[in-house]
Amino acid sequence: MNKEEVLKRTEEFVRQKIKGYDSGHDWWHIERVRNVAKFINEQEAIADQFTVEIAALLHDYVDSKFAGGNIENGFAELSEFMDKNGMTKIKEQVVDVLRNVSFSNKKPSGNLTDPVLLIIQDADRLDAIGAIGIARAFNYGGFRNNIIYNPDIEIKSSSTISHFYEKLLLLKNRMNTLTAKNLAVEKHEFLEIFLKQFYKEWEFGSFSGKRKY
Ligand code: ADP
Ligand code: NI
Repeated sequence: MNKEEVLKRTEEFVRQKIKGYDSGHDWWHIERVRNVAKFINEQEAIADQFTVEIAALLHDYVDSKFAGGNIENGFAELSEFMDKNGMTKIKEQVVDVLRNVSFSNKKPSGNLTDPVLLIIQDADRLDAIGAIGIARAFNYGGFRNNIIYNPDIEIKSSSTISHFYEKLLLLKNRMNTLTAKNLAVEKHEFLEIFLKQFYKEWEFGSFSGKRKY
């Protein structure tokens, strides 16, 4: 099987799986992560491009949020798929990348400096910031029926605005590659512009009507 064919089969395998995910983890997210990961590696030339592409396609295949906490079934499926489709040689590396790619993974293990991991992490994190990141955050919040914002319980609330402080605003400083650091600058600025405008409108809506003239 040539690489084109393996990539096509992997695309189809992923498309089937993510049908059950929220629309912030849809095919277009996978496609963006794949293309941005390829771009980063073109600039940095630190990893095998085929492995980068396969890892990008598979990076959300096993997600504890959509697997009821049981990720091992997902890894078993994935392992079988890779063996059957000519990817045994890169299987262990890709599985390690997938286990470590998540921002919320508290127990990283394996090769934490694998360039493939660094690239996929960067591409995934870039998609969580900027205008698309904001769209994805509110989309996810809606999917979970979370509130947009609550000024009374700002700390430890599960609002989507609080997610900006828990994750999105931290990502700029967690980029691994120089290429991603550069790409993150404008996207991070946009998060700040968005928040500024959001609070401005919130203030106006909260107090202006109550003012006595
Ligand atoms: P990771 O790729 O690190 O696993 P997630 O799957 O947790 O990231 O997040 C996927 C997308 O959903 C991101 O854009 C992220 O910002 C968003 N998201 C995750 N959790 C929340 C939340 N509690 N509120 C709003 N958006 C969220
Ligand atoms: Ni992702």
